[in-house]
Amino acid sequence: MKGLILSGGKGTRLYPLTYTSAKQLIPVANKPVLFRVIEAIRDAGISDIGIVVGDTAEEIKRAVGPGKQWDVNITYIPQDAPLGLAHAVKISRDFLGDDHFVMFLGDNVIQGGISSLIAQFASSSYNSQIVLTQVEQPQQYGVAQLDDQGQIIKLIEKPKEPPSNLALVGIYMFDAHIFEAVNAIKPSWRGELEITDAIQWLVDRGHNVHAYIHRGWWIDTGKPTDMLEANSRVLEELKPTIEGYVDRDSEVDSRVTVEAGAEIINSVVRGPAIIGKDTRIVNAYVGPFTSIYHHCLVENAEISRSIVLEHSQIRNINRRIEDSLIGRHVVVHRSPIRPRAYKFTLGDHSQLGLLGDESS
Ligand code: DAU
Repeated sequence: MKGLILSGGKGTRLYPLTYTSAKQLIPVANKPVLFRVIEAIRDAGISDIGIVVGDTAEEIKRAVGPGKQWDVNITYIPQDAPLGLAHAVKISRDFLGDDHFVMFLGDNVIQGGISSLIAQFASSSYNSQIVLTQVEQPQQYGVAQLDDQGQIIKLIEKPKEPPSNLALVGIYMFDAHIFEAVNAIKPSWRGELEITDAIQWLVDRGHNVHAYIHRGWWIDTGKPTDMLEANSRVLEELKPTIEGYVDRDSEVDSRVTVEAGAEIINSVVRGPAIIGKDTRIVNAYVGPFTSIYHHCLVENAEISRSIVLEHSQIRNINRRIEDSLIGRHVVVHRSPIRPRAYKFTLGDHSQLGLLGDESS
């Protein structure tokens, strides 16, 4: 069996973090989502993995390389434009050949991995297996309608009036029949070749498509709030380790990971949280559900339920930062220079939430 990861696309809902970089490389609990996807496929016993890449191809290749660090072989498959998930399958034909394969969207995070799903598919006579889960906002996803026996009746992409609350999770298993389907379907109203239409094509022609209902959590990390949610969920399940330095004046609870080279000085860190390699936390408070990536500095500041990307600094801030996603090489600090006014250098599409004047 082979693996196919989709890592093209634009990531517009995560602007400005994804202006110049791939959304699949944003870390959740200090590990890029794409790396988590590779590990899930590798752990299911698959070592031949294709990654579909678009505009951010170079950045992804630089981060992932040939796959040696995971003991897998990676083949990069360039996609000229994000023309849809079924289009990505179509252009991967040479890599996939006639093998069964699992397609995993490079921005999805799922609880419990995919080993049992893959084993079930490998030992079955299914032509395809899809994964469904109950969601609150089905109109944001592909949605399935099942009959009383759990057989698929209909699949619709982002319906205005969803027939159920069962969303398609971004993990799909196929045999070579899918190529007939992706070659037969036409682009949707949004101009994409939809994988939901291709699967519907299989169902309509009597192919055996099995719907597996996933009961744990699953997050499509499309928006900043989803990133924070995924970060919280993964941090909760992380096995904590302390490899860095914690001084005697600091209080670090048992659900905190401190990576190698990190330093916690005169600070309080409440878990679940992770402090990245060579990051310094000085006279600061880091609250639950926070991931600070490598080479950062948090000094005289308080932060909780947030993600801070590499090489960023938060200094001398007298209000707690919460529910925030802070990019790479960002500096947030109180300026000592008069007049005492806010001074910003914010990229396009940045969002800054300032406290209102308490007297008004
Ligand atoms: O996350 C689950 C949902 O994923 C499903 O419920 C939907 O049925 C499915 O269409 C998909 O919807 P999204 O709108 O969330 O897909 P998105 O455009 O975000 O793309 C998902 C991943 O695939 C992302 O990592 C980018 C990559 N991609 C996307 C397109 C359209 C490609 O590599 N090539 C593409 O052409």
